[in-house]
Amino acid sequence: MPKVLILFAHPALERSRVNQVLIQGVGDIPNVHFHDLYQHYPDFYVDVQHEQELLLMHDIIIWQHPLYWYSVPPLLKQWIDLTLEHGWAYGSKGVYLKGKRVLNVITAGGGHAAYEAGGYNGFTMHDFLRPLEQTAKLCGMEYLPPYLIHGTHRIDQAGAEKARKDYHTFLRALGAGEVDPEELKPLYYANDHRILNPVK
Ligand SMILES: Cc1cc2nc3c(=O)[nH]c(=O)nc-3n(C[C@H](O)[C@H](O)[C@H](O)COP(=O)(O)O)c2cc1C
Repeated sequence: MPKVLILFAHPALERSRVNQVLIQGVGDIPNVHFHDLYQHYPDFYVDVQHEQELLLMHDIIIWQHPLYWYSVPPLLKQWIDLTLEHGWAYGSKGVYLKGKRVLNVITAGGGHAAYEAGGYNGFTMHDFLRPLEQTAKLCGMEYLPPYLIHGTHRIDQAGAEKARKDYHTFLRALGAGEVDPEELKPLYYANDHRILNPVK
């Protein structure tokens, strides 16, 4: 069974309305390991060896975070800068991540339409994620379409619970090998997968 690692980065979890709900009980899902970066490294001193060991033990890597200024929160960038070392993650001897899959799980204040071509934000979500996509590719990883929760400013408690239910269904299926990462590749967002959108 594929092993899933969630690298979670939220700089202000105490003020979170959505991610706080999404992560409830996530560590209980079989084959899913939840790793809270801000909890482990409040001082930003990332333990590179530990992070690399975690990566080696998993097949599917998830970068879960709120979208901050069209990008990742600072500790996730720090994690990338330090953990994806030359000679380990990339370069002629950097072969350790080859063949792994990676995707972003993102909450965004803006709605779906605001991230369409010609929309309010000028670029699509995929455009904003290009640096991460290329980072993954440089490391020999397959970058899968992101899992998006849009419009968080307008999500109420019931909406957050529904988002949690869907996310956990997706994770449970990933961990059980019931969602083949190959099936995600042609999708716009990972959450367009049929496991969350059964044909009626
Ligand atoms: C510093 C900061 C920057 C943000 N930048 C964006 C942004 O670029 N695009 C967007 O759609 N939402 C943006 N937001 C909204 C957050 O993405 C949103 O509040 C968050 O995903 C909600 O999740 P949470 O309840 O777990 O915090 C920003 C919020 C903050 C605090």
